[in-house]
Amino acid sequence: MALSRSLLLALQLVSPVFTAAAAAVTAASGEQKLSITIGNDHTRHSSCKASCKAVPGTPDWPSTKEWDSLNESLAGRLLQPTPPGAVCHSGPGAFDSAECKVVRDGWSTYDYHQADPVSVDWNQWANDTCLPVDGAPCSGQGYPVYVVNVTEARHAQLGVQFAKKHNIRIIVKSSGHDFLGRSTSPNSLSLWVHHLRGLQTHDTFQPAGCSFTIDHTSVTVGGGMQMGELYDALDSIGQTVVGGGAKSVAVGGYVSGAGHSVLSSTHGLAADQVLEIEAVTPDGEIVTANECQNQDLFWALRGGGASTFGVMTSVTMKTYPTMKIDATTNIIITPDLENTRVTFDMIAYVLSQLPDMGDKGMSGYSYVFQQYPNPLDDGNTTIAGFVMSAALQNQSPEALQQLWAPVFEHVNTTWPNHFTAIQLPESFTSFSDWYSKHYDTTPTGSDFYIGSRLLDREALTANLTHSAEAWKGFTGGSVSTAYLVSGKGVHNAKPRGGSNAVLPAWRKAYIHATMGEEAEPSNTTSRAIVKKRVSDRVAALRELAPDSGAYMNEAFYEEPDWQHTFWGPNYERLLAIKRRIDPHDVFWCTPCVGNERWEQVDDRLCRVNGR
Ligand SMILES: *[C@@H]1O[C@H](CO)[C@@H](O)[C@H](O)[C@H]1NC(C)=O
Ligand SMILES: *[C@@H]1O[C@H](CO)[C@@H](O)[C@H](O)[C@H]1NC(C)=O
Ligand SMILES: *[C@@H]1O[C@H](CO)[C@@H](O)[C@H](O)[C@H]1NC(C)=O
Ligand SMILES: *[C@@H]1O[C@H](CO)[C@@H](O)[C@H](O)[C@H]1NC(C)=O
Ligand SMILES: *[C@@H]1O[C@H](CO)[C@@H](O)[C@H](O)[C@H]1NC(C)=O
Ligand SMILES: *[C@@H]1O[C@H](CO)[C@@H](O)[C@H](O)[C@H]1NC(C)=O
Ligand SMILES: *[C@@H]1O[C@H](CO)[C@@H](O)[C@H](O)[C@H]1NC(C)=O
Repeated sequence: MALSRSLLLALQLVSPVFTAAAAAVTAASGEQKLSITIGNDHTRHSSCKASCKAVPGTPDWPSTKEWDSLNESLAGRLLQPTPPGAVCHSGPGAFDSAECKVVRDGWSTYDYHQADPVSVDWNQWANDTCLPVDGAPCSGQGYPVYVVNVTEARHAQLGVQFAKKHNIRIIVKSSGHDFLGRSTSPNSLSLWVHHLRGLQTHDTFQPAGCSFTIDHTSVTVGGGMQMGELYDALDSIGQTVVGGGAKSVAVGGYVSGAGHSVLSSTHGLAADQVLEIEAVTPDGEIVTANECQNQDLFWALRGGGASTFGVMTSVTMKTYPTMKIDATTNIIITPDLENTRVTFDMIAYVLSQLPDMGDKGMSGYSYVFQQYPNPLDDGNTTIAGFVMSAALQNQSPEALQQLWAPVFEHVNTTWPNHFTAIQLPESFTSFSDWYSKHYDTTPTGSDFYIGSRLLDREALTANLTHSAEAWKGFTGGSVSTAYLVSGKGVHNAKPRGGSNAVLPAWRKAYIHATMGEEAEPSNTTSRAIVKKRVSDRVAALRELAPDSGAYMNEAFYEEPDWQHTFWGPNYERLLAIKRRIDPHDVFWCTPCVGNERWEQVDDRLCRVNGR
């Protein structure tokens, strides 16, 4: 998800639920003291089941001495953090009103969660177990028990070997920017790779074990490096990379899930840029994977999903000369909230034009809404319609406006006097220049569920009546997105080694459509209602594009047949690779390749009977 700053400014995009939650967090003074226990209640686990992963209290959980010796081998890099919200609750040595204020102030920012060893961007993944809110429970049950503060591949290796030997659930956290919640789990050892840094650029690159050199500029970066810093570093030498919209997104999770970008329509997905990967395998080996060695792993790590085939400790990907970007914000809105038929006919029409416009080089982020505070009158009225922040590389400033002229004209003549159409042009001298204004500034720190679907030309153009109905259902009263982040660059990508594990539906898609909704924190009823609504809303687009799929890094985590929704016909090959390189399921997450043999029962990971 990438709501750009300009759009936020334009649309004052703050959902009512978020405002309420944020107000609850910031207004709370910390006066109310609750009696809580930091750490997990493990007494009920005293009867060990060999078919489950070890948890504290079971005989197979390592002794303090064994943890100490792991810590020693890590030169003291083993942490046992308290949950971030603990400072806002009374308990043994926990409450600290100054620290609590820091946590509350930071909770809606990516920066806060990425700097903390265990915190994640969306609350529900830690099961709301220690929100920095008065009256909220604070058991810390949703967080890992120990954390390795990884700064080099060797640290991740020691962590994997230890977890494997002792039958401990392992997770990988980088920035915690994961819509599917793979970066936290109860009773686990976390490999926190945020501090896995490093950046080296190359004019040409010879993959290890290959007899040839790839004649393309590239960069090798640590798996924990994030988009903001990567763009900045490359910009200083006049280059850029196919990267994400949010500054906090880290390369490891992004590349392993495919990775879309505003540059994808010309250059392909992030996974298509990769020349080489260094990873720690489930077997605890540090390996280099490329088209000449460990080819299966190389294939799987590029699109097969994070925390499944290993820990990506570094990645080498292509870079490109930075480009001039012309942009327009295109607004087509109406104050008429009653006539949703006309609104969605207009939306279906405009969306049907995006494949052709995409083929001419345009990319960008669009938003579709049935009612929204009108940015043009300080939100005094409510509007419905479409907004797109569009971008075009290295062309004349007029080119983008010319692309839109027939679209505006069609809207004006088909529905005279119904819509207000406005175009705001902008011009940028480099990718970084554009990014500094258009990066993702959506607030975080809520209980947020998203759903998505990839749409190809046929879904967008074959039957506009159906498209209009489907979008109306998908948007369902709030804002949804239609990101034009695929196109020729993705369709014609030539990943090294012939192919990668990216969902084949990406190769036909133009639009990555997403919607998201917040649930009330610590409210299981609200959570169930929101999940049902997200699921129902995605169904409308699933029907419009039944043979497509969804971008696995930004999708509904309980998607039916997620195996094929996220990987299509690649799933069976991915599963075979997973079984071969991780026969004992050292890595497990959901929804992740090969997780079918285990399930989470309360806060334990146990084998599904008979598997
Ligand atoms: C690991 O060792 C360091 C340095 O000796 C120490 O500060 C830290 O508390 C230890 N971690 C754990 C979990 O005991
Ligand atoms: C983790 O390691 C980094 C790099 O050595 C260090 O700066 C940071 O303070 C460590 N974090 C914690 C919580 O120990
Ligand atoms: C919005 O409403 C407020 C309060 O009625 C008014 O002061 C303000 O001028 C209005 N803004 C616009 C742009 O109409
Ligand atoms: C819309 O059409 C009317 C009448 O045909 C014309 O006067 C007006 O300039 C058009 N507006 C836009 C934004 O194209
Ligand atoms: C177009 O979609 C509508 C609504 O789903 C459907 O009723 C109609 O039969 C479809 N038209 C064609 C030609 O398939
Ligand atoms: C939980 O959420 C439901 C559905 O939104 C709401 O009706 C209920 O009042 C909420 N419960 C609490 C305790 O806030
Ligand atoms: C989340 O917390 C609830 C209690 O609030 C508990 O019933 C549930 O089992 C927890 N979920 C997991 C996955 O641990």
